Amino acid sequence: MIDLRSDTVTRPTKEMLNTMIHAPVGDDVFGEDPTINKLEAMAAEMFGMEAGLFCPSGTMTNQIAIKLHTQPGDEIICHEYSHIYNYEGGGLAANSGCQTRLLKGDRGFISAEEVAANIGNPHDVHAARTSMVSVENTVNKGGGSCYELSTLEAIGKVARANNLAYHIDGARIFNALVAKNQNAKDYGKLFDTISICLSKGLGCPVGSLLLGSKEHIMQARRIRKRFGGGMRQAGYLAAAGIYALKNHIDRLAEDHEKAQVLKSALEKCSWVDRIEPVETNIVIFYLKEGLEQDAFMGMLKENGILAVGMGQGKLRFVTHLDISSTQISQVANVLENI
Ligand SMILES: Cc1ncc(COP(=O)(O)O)c(C=O)c1O
Repeated sequence: MIDLRSDTVTRPTKEMLNTMIHAPVGDDVFGEDPTINKLEAMAAEMFGMEAGLFCPSGTMTNQIAIKLHTQPGDEIICHEYSHIYNYEGGGLAANSGCQTRLLKGDRGFISAEEVAANIGNPHDVHAARTSMVSVENTVNKGGGSCYELSTLEAIGKVARANNLAYHIDGARIFNALVAKNQNAKDYGKLFDTISICLSKGLGCPVGSLLLGSKEHIMQARRIRKRFGGGMRQAGYLAAAGIYALKNHIDRLAEDHEKAQVLKSALEKCSWVDRIEPVETNIVIFYLKEGLEQDAFMGMLKENGILAVGMGQGKLRFVTHLDISSTQISQVANVLENI
C-alpha cells in the first residue's frame, strides 16, 4: 500500500531505532532522564525559548497550553479549522472549561484585524473573558497552508496589547519553516507557548514538546502530571526526537516537492473539480459533482493507494518520509489513468 493518509504513519528509520536503543535513560518524573533533558533543552534553544516539556502527543501539548493560559469560562480566539477546536475531543471545554470564538479566513488563516474585532469587552460582565489567541502553522485542515511571519507578528501585537496569551499549534511548524525559509527563533520571540510535534513530518514514533518561558514550563509540568502525561524512561522516545531534529528537518523539502508532483498529476485529471494551493506536504482536492467519495477512495485502495476522505468529495494526500519518488510516480500514473 502507498499510504498517503497522513505523515503520522511513518515507521522509525533504522538509524533512528539504533539511536533509540542506545539512549541513556532515567526516571523523568524525577527529572533524571538525560535524553529527555537534552531534547527539551535542544528544542527550546532551537526556537530561542527558555524551556521545553516533552509530552506524548500534540493534543496534550495544546491542551496543557490552554490550561496554562486560561481560567474556566474564558474564551479562546482561533480559526474554525483549528485542530484544538475540531480534533481534540472537546478537550478545551472538558479540561479547561473554555469556549471558542471561531474566526473564518482563507485556508485557515486569521488576521490581526479579525482578532482585534473579536476580543470580548473586559469591562462587560456579560462577555466571556478573552484570554488566549491560538494559531496553527501549517494549518492541517487548510491543506498545509503557511502563514507569513508578518501576519503572525501583527496578531502578536494585538495579543500583547490586550493581555492575551499567544499560542501556536506547530504540529507541522518545521514544514512551514522549510517552505517559507523562516527562522525558528523568530517564532520564539513572538509566542508565549509553541507546540511542536516530532511524530508528524519528522518521522518519530511518538512525541511533542511544549516550549515557553521557565515559569510557564514549570506550571506546564504540573499540568502534564495532572493530565496523566508524566513519563518515566521515555528517553528512548526522546532519542528519536533528537535524531529527527538533527536529521529530518531539511529533507521536508523533498516531501514538499513530492506533493507538487501529485498536484501536477491531479491538474491533468478531468474528474478533479479543484485543488487547494499546495505549499507543503498536504494536497487537498475536490471530486467533480456526482462522484461518490467513498467509492472513489475504494477504487484508489484497489490500486494500492490510501487517501483520507474529508467529506463531500474533499480528499487529502499527505507526503512523508516513507514515500519514495518511485511511489509518487506510481500514484501519478494511477491518477492520470483513472
Ligand atoms: C495541527 C495539528 N495539531 C495537533 C495535532 C495532534 O497531534 P497528536 O496526534 O500527536 O495528538 C495534530 C495531529 O494530526 C495536528 O494535525
